[in-house]
Amino acid sequence: MRYDRIGTGYVHQRRPDPRLAARIWDALGDADSVVNVGAGAGSYEPRDRCVVAVEPAITMIRQRTAGAAPVVRACAEALPFPEASFAAALSVLSVHHWSDWQAGLRELLRVSRRKVVLFTWDPQNGGFWLADYFPHMLATDRQRFPTLTALRAVLGEIEVVPVPIPHDCSDGFMGAYWRRPSAYLDPKIRAAISSLAAEASTVSLTQLADDLGNGVWKRKYGPMLDQDEIDLGYRLVVANGPWRPDA
Ligand SMILES: C[S@@+](CC[C@H](N)C(=O)[O-])C[C@H]1O[C@@H](n2cnc3c(N)ncnc32)[C@H](O)[C@@H]1O
Repeated sequence: MRYDRIGTGYVHQRRPDPRLAARIWDALGDADSVVNVGAGAGSYEPRDRCVVAVEPAITMIRQRTAGAAPVVRACAEALPFPEASFAAALSVLSVHHWSDWQAGLRELLRVSRRKVVLFTWDPQNGGFWLADYFPHMLATDRQRFPTLTALRAVLGEIEVVPVPIPHDCSDGFMGAYWRRPSAYLDPKIRAAISSLAAEASTVSLTQLADDLGNGVWKRKYGPMLDQDEIDLGYRLVVANGPWRPDA
């Protein structure tokens, strides 16, 4: 399991951002029971409803706090629950890691009664300045993340809500540091971003460090420093049921 290798120290760099949490919880509506698939250390699990977490990587499970929701060690592609066990299924920045994301999403539909909520990235988005330094990373992510059309093909009708990323986002995923460019030079920060954990191009890092030092970065990308939040292609994808007559 990849996150058994790269997940060490995850909780220190990937602290849930309260603004993103509010949007995710809002998307869950009044669902009173939620299965959180690819749950990791428990970010974005609402405390005011019954939550069961599903996570395959033991390194991630061990980072869950004592008060976190109960966790089952399993993969999205084979959820160990009967049909319609939960009002809603949630998955945050995880679908692109599944070996068979279509099978995983079919499982989310099977075990939930009326809602599937995904927080994901739309690969048809142009990416942002980081891709100028790590073009290979953008190309790889474009293949890993399912397109909205591909998601529709499995989930049916979906609502797609753009989620702008605040400039001081506390959850250190790939786009989180868009206004704090030197953060990407920190190996601990890169280690918590799966696409960058895999990309070890010293040439790209040196180029970024040089451009930050000699003012080139600021000349090229400086205008975005005035923005407090930005649309980088992160999306909430919501499929609304009920897809069972008795739900
Ligand atoms: C980027 S982390 C996100 C964790 C958490 N949802 C969060 O927002 O912090 C991706 C998670 O997906 C999990 N994962 C990878 N493959 C999976 C699979 N086939 N089924 C379920 N989860 C999987 C990883 O182990 C990891 O914990």
